[in-house]
Amino acid sequence: MCVVLQGMESCTVSALSCFIAFCLLVCLIGFIFADADFTLLWASLTGQRPERKLKGLVVWITGASSGIGEELAYQLAKCGSRLILSARREDELHRVKRHCLETSELKDEDILVLPLDLLERRSHETKTKTVIGYFGHIDILINNGGRSQRSLFLETSVDVCQALMELNFFGTVSLTKQVLPHMTQRGRGSIVTVSSLFGLTAAPLATGASASKHALQGFFNSLRTELTDYPKILISTVCPGPVQSQIAKNAFTAEINKPPPTVGHLKRMPTDRCVRLMLVGISNGVKEMWISQQPMLLLYYTWQYAPTFAWSVSDRLGRKWVQNFKAGRDADSANLTKPKTS
Ligand SMILES: NC(=O)c1ccc[n+]([C@@H]2O[C@H](COP(=O)([O-])OP(=O)(O)OC[C@H]3O[C@@H](n4cnc5c(N)ncnc54)[C@H](OP(=O)(O)O)[C@@H]3O)[C@@H](O)[C@H]2O)c1
Repeated sequence: MCVVLQGMESCTVSALSCFIAFCLLVCLIGFIFADADFTLLWASLTGQRPERKLKGLVVWITGASSGIGEELAYQLAKCGSRLILSARREDELHRVKRHCLETSELKDEDILVLPLDLLERRSHETKTKTVIGYFGHIDILINNGGRSQRSLFLETSVDVCQALMELNFFGTVSLTKQVLPHMTQRGRGSIVTVSSLFGLTAAPLATGASASKHALQGFFNSLRTELTDYPKILISTVCPGPVQSQIAKNAFTAEINKPPPTVGHLKRMPTDRCVRLMLVGISNGVKEMWISQQPMLLLYYTWQYAPTFAWSVSDRLGRKWVQNFKAGRDADSANLTKPKTS
C-alpha cells in the first residue's frame, strides 16, 4: 500500500515538474517574440477593445503632425474618437485631418485642428479653453509632442539640455496643468504621456533627452499618487523603444539648430503596431507601458529587476555607441553595429 502511495506521489511530482517546465518554456518562447511588457500583451489578448472603449471620446493629441502622433490620429479616428490635432505645423495637421476623414466615419466637425507650440506656455490656457469651448470637455490628453538628441554631453551646449527640458518636460507639464482641473471637476479622464525607454534606462548620446523623460516619469508617477481620490482618472506613461518616425531627423545635436548629420537605419518597430498597443493600454487603464521589440525589451526587464547587471551591460553598450559615434557612423546604426576600428 505504502509503495503504491509513494509511486503515485512521485508520479504527481514529476507531472507537476513537467507542467512547470512546459509553462516556463511557453513563457520563454513568448518573451522572445514579445513586443511589449506582459501586462500590456495580456490586455491586448483578453482586455477591452479600443474600438469599443474609445468610440465617441474626445482625445487631444500633441505632436499630431508626424510619427506616433499622426498614427494615433488615424487609429483613433477609425475607433470613432473625436480629435483635437496639435503641433506647430498647421499645414501638416490639415493633411492628417484630411486622411482621418478619408479613412473613417468622422465628420469635418469631429476633428479640430489646433496649432500649438509646447514651448509657448502662456498660450496653453487659451488653447485649452478653445478645446473646452468646442467639444465641451476632454476625455483623453495624449502628451506626445517631443524631440530626442544625438550628441555627446562633453560636446553639447547646456542650452540643448535646457531646450530638451523646456520642450519634453515643461511643455508637457504646462499643458497637463491646464487640462487636469477639467478632469478632476468631471471626476474622470486620462492623461497619457509618451515617455521613452530612455525615461527608464541609460541613454548614451542622449543625456539631456533621457533626463527630460526621466523627469516625466517621476512627475507623472508622483501625480498619480496625488489623485487617488479620483479613481476614474488614469495617469499613464508610455515607454517606447525605437519606433519608425521622424524622431532621428528632428533630434537635437550638440548645438541648438544644428541638424543631425545622417539618419540611421536601426531596426524600428512599425508605428502602427506601437500605436495599437498604446490604445490597448489606454482602453485597459495600464499605468506604464513598455513597447519595444527584442532585444530592447530585454533591457527594460533587466533594468527593472537586475539593475546591477543592467549597468554593466549598459556600460559595454555605451562604450560601443560612443566609439561608433566618434568614428562618424550614423547615430542609429551605431547602436547595433561593431565599433569602427580605423
Ligand atoms: N520614435 C521613437 O523611436 C521614439 C522612442 C521613444 C519615445 N518617442 C517619443 O515619441 C514622441 C513622438 O515622437 P515621434 O517618434 O513621433 O517623432 P516625430 O515624428 O519627430 O514627431 C514629433 C512630433 O512632436 C511635435 N513637436 C516638436 N516640437 C514641438 C513643439 N515645440 N511644440 C509642439 N509640438 C512639437 C512635432 O510637430 P511640429 O514639428 O509640427 O511641431 C511632431 O508632430 C516624442 O515624445 C518622442 O520622444 C519616440
